[in-house]
Amino acid sequence: MPKVNTKLVLWDEIVGWCWRLADKVRMEGFKPDVVVAIARGGYVPARLLCDFLDIHDLISLQILHWGKAAEITAVAHVKYPFVVDLSGKKVLLVDDIIDTGDSVIIARDYILSKWKPAELKTAAMQWISPVAKIKPDFYVEEVKEWVWYQYPWTRAEDTTNFFEKIVKESAKEGKLEWTYEELVKEFRNWYGIDVGETYYRIALTRLLENGLIERRGERYVVRRQ
Ligand code: ADE
Repeated sequence: MPKVNTKLVLWDEIVGWCWRLADKVRMEGFKPDVVVAIARGGYVPARLLCDFLDIHDLISLQILHWGKAAEITAVAHVKYPFVVDLSGKKVLLVDDIIDTGDSVIIARDYILSKWKPAELKTAAMQWISPVAKIKPDFYVEEVKEWVWYQYPWTRAEDTTNFFEKIVKESAKEGKLEWTYEELVKEFRNWYGIDVGETYYRIALTRLLENGLIERRGERYVVRRQ
């Protein structure tokens, strides 16, 4: 059993989910004038929804949860606040997944108070119902047990973070040296997925660059933090 419940998501699944999401929006008779993508996760689904629903207006709002070096900021917030006039417009606010729901709640409240659209509805491919503080108006999958969706647009970032976690946790148990093969094997054990060599190599390069590990011949050695 993997330590972290993870699902490797393929591009074709994204397209399929977004078609189904578009169908749900259409079936309810909701005709948005503008799509707002929550950055960064909502970008790809939002763009596909524009295509599938023939919507030509797409804007984006970035919500930040984490400060520098993964310090938790007091509350999630709008990273680059700006104002546009959406009076009289119907908005579809899109994210990839509703997990805690904080991003969508903050984006929705900001848009309603500052951009003043006539109407706003929310959409996401996945909705993690047991933990989410909000239920989106449109979703494709209700997720009843928490899963990390490893979307294709965060493959390099997630692989880096997952490696970092493995290396740091194992260092606590005294393991300070790794071969490439050992790391990949441990990645598969922990997460139960295989992202492929290109991503493992990118992630390793990033860990070398940020100084978590250094290379000694064929081995990767954890540096004192
Ligand atoms: N972002 C926030 N929660 C997530 C999850 N469970 N899977 C993928 N991306 C996320």
